Amino acid sequence: MLIPERLLMGPGPSNPHPDVTQALAAPLVGHLDPYFLQVMDETMSNLRMVFGTENHHTIPMSATGSGGLETIMLNLLEPGDEAVVGIIGYFGHRLAAMASKAGATVRTLEEDPGQIIDPGRIQAELEKKPAKLVAVVHAETSTGACQPLEEIGKIAHDHGALFVVDCVTSSPAWKSSAFPYLRPKLTGSQC
Ligand SMILES: Cc1ncc(COP(=O)(O)O)c(C=O)c1O
Repeated sequence: MLIPERLLMGPGPSNPHPDVTQALAAPLVGHLDPYFLQVMDETMSNLRMVFGTENHHTIPMSATGSGGLETIMLNLLEPGDEAVVGIIGYFGHRLAAMASKAGATVRTLEEDPGQIIDPGRIQAELEKKPAKLVAVVHAETSTGACQPLEEIGKIAHDHGALFVVDCVTSSPAWKSSAFPYLRPKLTGSQC
């Protein structure tokens, strides 16, 4: 089978390093194999460095970015919870849909395509009524808008809310000062 070589220039998927492509062609080992455990330990340790955390439970998931986001929303939210979701495009709508699928009462704050959410709107919403979780999209691929994170992260933190950010197409750029406020931290395979 001859697969054409393409230079991928979009927000994702992107070309992996040749070492990664080569590793993908390596023979399989079982999930209880000592070698697998060694590779998993090493991967978890490297991911802790990427995510700037000491948390032992820093794991790679075999899933798409959407799979990772659903894992977060469905594990953190349950019926009776309140969630505030900032929507600046298609992927924001998907975050809201995931939160609502988890059974949460979702309060959305929307902006026109190309615009970003003013942190003051999140603050006002949380002052009106607390929420367990605040979610926004960092790089909203559907419009090209980049949502600044620091202020919203601090507001969520100060109001005792978890701060979830879809960084599926932006993690190399996300080492912003909002980093400490992100709980949990997830990125996707497209970066
Ligand atoms: C901002 C954003 N979030 C989430 C996703 C979903 O990622 P995946 O296609 O890996 O499920 C995409 C995909 O393009 C995206 O651009």
